[in-house]
Amino acid sequence: MLFQLSEEQLMIQQAARDFAQHELKPGVIERDEHQKFPAEQVKKLGELGFLGMMVSEKFGGSGLDAVSYVLVMEELSKVDASASVVVSVNNSLVCYGLEAYGSEFQKEKYLTPLASGQQIGAFCLSEPEAGSDATSQQTTAEDKGDYYLLNGTKNWITNGSTASTYLVIAQTHPDLKHKGINAFIVEKGMEGFTIGPKENKMGIRGSDTHSLMFNDVKIPKENRIGEDGFGFKFAMKTLEGGRIGIAAQALGIAAGAYELALDYAKQRKSFGKPIAEHQAIAFKLADMATSIEAARMLVYKAAWLKDQGLPYTLAGSMAKLYASKVAMDVTVEAVQVHGGYGFVKEYHVERLMRDAKITQIYEGTSEIQQMVISREILR
Ligand code: CAA
Repeated sequence: MLFQLSEEQLMIQQAARDFAQHELKPGVIERDEHQKFPAEQVKKLGELGFLGMMVSEKFGGSGLDAVSYVLVMEELSKVDASASVVVSVNNSLVCYGLEAYGSEFQKEKYLTPLASGQQIGAFCLSEPEAGSDATSQQTTAEDKGDYYLLNGTKNWITNGSTASTYLVIAQTHPDLKHKGINAFIVEKGMEGFTIGPKENKMGIRGSDTHSLMFNDVKIPKENRIGEDGFGFKFAMKTLEGGRIGIAAQALGIAAGAYELALDYAKQRKSFGKPIAEHQAIAFKLADMATSIEAARMLVYKAAWLKDQGLPYTLAGSMAKLYASKVAMDVTVEAVQVHGGYGFVKEYHVERLMRDAKITQIYEGTSEIQQMVISREILR
């Protein structure tokens, strides 16, 4: 068993670390405060090849492995989870979904600009009445012969207003339940497609989250992904990889908060010595480091399984369940280590604590991961 990253993976990790420090850190507090989307930073991430990391070069991607992808997610998320969620959704949900299941026409027209970072995409599954219960889609796509007619509302869509291409899940044959669901490629600007106001969120405030409304939007037949009725499986298969990306995001949030707490504890003095030398703080740091390392092993293993072409449903859900809990626990402790300073924005840890929470909610709540894991182990 090898626990060593390759030279190439180490270089990619370093590039992401440098980017996070030099491009994401300046301005991250202001973007969070003013809910400002990191547009310039996302453009540069695209130029670095981080928006289509696992897509083949033929379609404008970087042709890298999933381990490199989680390394990048981890480093970016140490500093700015609002930027890293763009990387996660574009890579795991949108580009992966199109490359794995799209037609040649769809790959050429839509995947290439997304993978090369000229455009970004959004994945639209959640609805006002269908979050965890994803089979209960109320959005409909009526088959009209030459085209589909799309009607309905999607909620909490990441990249909601900044995306150009939207993968939308909708019900075509309600009598067939999940077997009647389809996935469609929808373009911004199609008639009848409107974008609701930006959500005012607790965390990842720089990310661009909106409701989307579809009112008699005509979708060309060639924009359906896969066979008629493949949409639910498409969503599930795509989310499996997405969960590894969000697990890596949670890992990065935890590691970022821990690194700040460690530095602070070495510098801050109380009762005549650095607080790191007080057992109360040293033991907290020990627990934080241990849980982060355990989360890291789960995340890297899930990515490695994906790279080997082995099943990763169980590993991905375990990684997400555990890493997101570690993100919550570690960020709360990082604020505690900082004392009063942890409660003010300049020290970054309060933002990481707020950002951590979403990792237990999106791309399947912790309870959904428990459901997936228990089904897999009881099968
Ligand atoms: N791969 C392939 N097929 C799968 C699958 C998988 N991983 N999981 C389920 N399926 C198939 C099943 O085999 C079944 O098909 P058959 O009838 O042909 O056998 C079908 O899908 C229905 O499966 P279930 O009976 O298991 O469905 P369920 O309703 O009991 O539960 C669920 C499924 C796991 C709970 C699912 O609904 C789920 O994952 N819900 C959470 C949704 C979610 O993660 N939403 C996140 C929104 S996206 C987001 O957050 C993006 C963002 O912007 C950041």
